[in-house]
Amino acid sequence: MPETEKKKLFSAVQPSGAVTVGNYIGAIKNFAALQGEYDCIYAVADLHAITVRQEPAALRRNTLELMALFLACGIDPQKCILFVQSHVPAHCELTWVLNTVTYPGELSRMTQFKDKSAKHADNVNMGLMDYPVLMVADILLYQAALVPVGADQKQHLELTRDLAVRFNNRYGETFTVPDAYIPSGSGAKIMSLADPTRKMSKSDENPNAYITMSDDRDTIIRKCKRAVTDSGSEVRVSEEKPGISNLIAIYGAFTGKTAAETEREFEGKGYGDFKIAVGEAVADALAPVQAEKARLLKDKAYLNEIMRQGAENAARLARRTLSKVYRKVGFYRGE
Ligand code: TRP
Repeated sequence: MPETEKKKLFSAVQPSGAVTVGNYIGAIKNFAALQGEYDCIYAVADLHAITVRQEPAALRRNTLELMALFLACGIDPQKCILFVQSHVPAHCELTWVLNTVTYPGELSRMTQFKDKSAKHADNVNMGLMDYPVLMVADILLYQAALVPVGADQKQHLELTRDLAVRFNNRYGETFTVPDAYIPSGSGAKIMSLADPTRKMSKSDENPNAYITMSDDRDTIIRKCKRAVTDSGSEVRVSEEKPGISNLIAIYGAFTGKTAAETEREFEGKGYGDFKIAVGEAVADALAPVQAEKARLLKDKAYLNEIMRQGAENAARLARRTLSKVYRKVGFYRGE
């Protein structure tokens, strides 16, 4: 990958099961659009994934699937760096050093740590607590200036900034202090189909609450038909109508239509017609992505080669930062 003066942008997604259309709209769909403007580095965060229990065979499969999904969504390995986190040892190495400038209290009070500890009470492990430091390492290794983050990762980005500044103060200028990348336009937040006051999440116990990127057409339409909607019958965005507002957002995200356009389109029509239209729009939009992903998954040699190249390119950049860090902290380098 040629080096340019463009700003670096880093993001990652965990290969921990199904990817929902919420993840797609909120993150992955935009990844491809960012490749022109920034030097993008995208990772499949398998090291993060094992902080909660994973079935090893499923983790392997999900890693390959996520890689194929990234590519199917238009991420171009010629334009950016796409790799699997565990293929680049520098992530773990930098995490160790950063651990020595992190206070346990900073980690134990993280909202996500508290939530996950409650949810996985039988498996509260050090990795779960250290998860944000690994994220900090991901970002700082590449001197990323921008990190697209959803609301649930904001605290982790704050920690990234804190640790970068702390390290720079203690050891001298080493890391770029990153900013959150807030997408222009409406970075629609997709809510649960079963409870539109909550975020759509693949860890929801009710599979009708979310649509995954691999759901087939009938499943998608059925889930949209079953989506919880509000009293009334008008297709209109309103705070009192979180269910219909969410469906309007989903429809907009997949058709490019504004809420006003959608309201006009469904004027005089009921919820039933609208829900079917939403399901069809989602299914139509996902069909080509699903087909391309299936095609890629049949070509494992190609996927392996993309991962190998991605890891090589990532490792080259990461090494540079890690060498600097090792020098700064006083590790004897034999020179
Ligand atoms: N923790 C992020 C998530 O679950 C994934 C992630 C890992 C990440 N490392 C990152 C996101 C670095 C942004 C930057 O969504």
